[in-house]
Amino acid sequence: MQLHDSDVIVIGSGMAGLVGALSLAPLRVTLLTKTADLPGGSSNWAQGGIAAALDPADDPIEHAADTVAAGAGLTDPEMASLLTAEGAWRLTRWINRGLPFDRKPDGRLCLGREAAHGAPRVLHAGGDATGRTLMADLSARVRAANHVTVKTRCFVWDLVTGRQGVTGVLAHHADTGWVFHRAGAVLLACGGVGQLYRHTTNPTEATGDGIALAARAGAELADLEFVQFHPTALAGTRTGQVPLLTEALRGAGAHLLDEHGGRFMLKAHPLAELAPRDVVAKAIGARTAAGLPVYLDLRTLWAEGGAAQFPTVAGICAAAKLDPARLPIPVAPAAHYHMGGVISDADGRTSVTGLYAAGEVACTGVHGANRLASNSLLEALVFAERAADAILAATPVRLGPVALPSLPFILTPMPQAAAVAVQAADIMAEAVGLLRDGIGLSCAIAALEALETGLDQVPVREDHAAIRLSGELRNRLLTSTLIARSALARQESRGAHQRSDCPDARAEWRHRQRVTLTGPAPQ
Ligand code: SIN
Repeated sequence: MQLHDSDVIVIGSGMAGLVGALSLAPLRVTLLTKTADLPGGSSNWAQGGIAAALDPADDPIEHAADTVAAGAGLTDPEMASLLTAEGAWRLTRWINRGLPFDRKPDGRLCLGREAAHGAPRVLHAGGDATGRTLMADLSARVRAANHVTVKTRCFVWDLVTGRQGVTGVLAHHADTGWVFHRAGAVLLACGGVGQLYRHTTNPTEATGDGIALAARAGAELADLEFVQFHPTALAGTRTGQVPLLTEALRGAGAHLLDEHGGRFMLKAHPLAELAPRDVVAKAIGARTAAGLPVYLDLRTLWAEGGAAQFPTVAGICAAAKLDPARLPIPVAPAAHYHMGGVISDADGRTSVTGLYAAGEVACTGVHGANRLASNSLLEALVFAERAADAILAATPVRLGPVALPSLPFILTPMPQAAAVAVQAADIMAEAVGLLRDGIGLSCAIAALEALETGLDQVPVREDHAAIRLSGELRNRLLTSTLIARSALARQESRGAHQRSDCPDARAEWRHRQRVTLTGPAPQ
C-alpha cells in the first residue's frame, strides 16, 4: 500500500467537490473521483438551473420563504435564510469571476420560473444544459489550479479514523492500486443515492457511497427516508439512468395530461403543474402505478420556439424518436435527489472531527422533507465554500504517525455483485419508492439483509473494476437498508415520504430523524 499526504482530501467531482477544492487554496488538496474524467456526479446532468434572488424585484427573504414552504415543515428556517442570502452574493461573485449564464440581448440575466418558486429566479446556462455548461467551466478551473491534484478512477473504500477524528481515506486507484491518503481534513462531496432505485435521473456513480462511508466512520446521519422523485423523467422500459425532462418546461407553460388529454393537476393542487415537486410526483406516480399513462404536452411551447430554448430536451426526444411538436411525451417519476444525508452544520462540519460534508451527501436541514427546484446547485456552491472557509480557518492538523488501515481481503464476485445490485434496486423501487407502507418496508429490510448474507466471497485481487463493483455493492446495501429503516420508523406522511398506512403528517414527527450505522437512533 502506498502512502500519500495532502492537507485536505475532497471526495467527489460534482459541484460541491469542484467548488470545495477550488476554495481550499492554498492548502494542498487531493480530489478523488470514481469517474474517468472531470466532472462527475449529478450536477453535470442538471437542466433547470440554479436558483437565486438576483432580480431587483426579488428578495432572498422570499426565496427562503418558498424554500421553507416546500420543505413540508422540516426545513430549518435559519439554514434556508443563510442559503438564499449568501447564495445571492456568492453566486454573484462567481458570475463576476466569469461563470457563464444565459443573458438577454440587453445583458441582463435570464431568470426562469420553476415549481413552487414565487418569482422567476432560476439562472440557466446553455439553455437547459446548465449543469454541463457550469461543470465544464469549473472542471477547467480545477485542472488549472496548482493546489489541486485530481485522481480519477479512484474508489474510496473507507474513511480512516483515529482518536483525533478522521486521518484520511483508504482508496483503490485503477493505475496504482491501494493508497492510504493521509490528510488533516476530508470533505465528503460524493453526491446522492439515485442508483439505489430502478429508475433514476442520476448517473451511474450515485450509489450512496457517501452515506455508507460516513456511517461506517461513526458520523451521524439524518432524514434518510426523504428521497425526492422527479415527476417528469422520460417513461419507457429502460432502467438505471433515465432522461430528465426539466421542470423548467412546466415553468414555461408545458402541461401534464392524462390518458384522455385532461389536465389532472388542476384538481390536485391550486398551483397545478407548478405545485411543489412532491405533490406533482405523487399525482403522477398514483397514475403510473395504476398502469395509466401520463404525458407532458410540449406542443404549444415547441410552436413558440421551445426546441431552441431547451436543446437538451429536444435531443432527448429526438433520440427517443418522439416529436414534441406533434404529440405529448410520456413521463414517469424517477429517483432524483436525497434530502437526507450526513448531518452537517452551516460550515459543513459533521459529528466526526475533521470530516466535512457538502452538497447532496450532506443534511443541513435546508431542504426539509422536499427540496425546492434548483436549490441543489445553490446549496452545493454555498456550503462547499463555507466548508472550505471552515477548514482554512481551523488550526492546521499536523500529519503525525497514524496507524495504516487494513486492506479488505474479501470481495463479492463480479457477476454476483452486478446481479444483486439490480435485485436491491428492484426492492427499493417496489417498497421504498414514492408510496410506502409498514409491511412493505419490513419485507424490504428483510430482503436487503438476506441479499447481504447470501453474498459469496472471493479473495481480493488487484482488479479495480471488481474492487469498485464490490465496494459499491457494500455501500448500496448499507445505504438502502438505512433508508428503508428510516422510512419504517417515520410513522407519518410528509413531503417526499408518503405512507399509505399513515397518510397524514403528525405533529410529533415534525423533527429530523437521526440515524447511525445501526439505523434510526431513539428520537
Ligand atoms: C430540473 O431541471 O427539473 C431539475 C432541477 C432540480 O432538480 O432542481
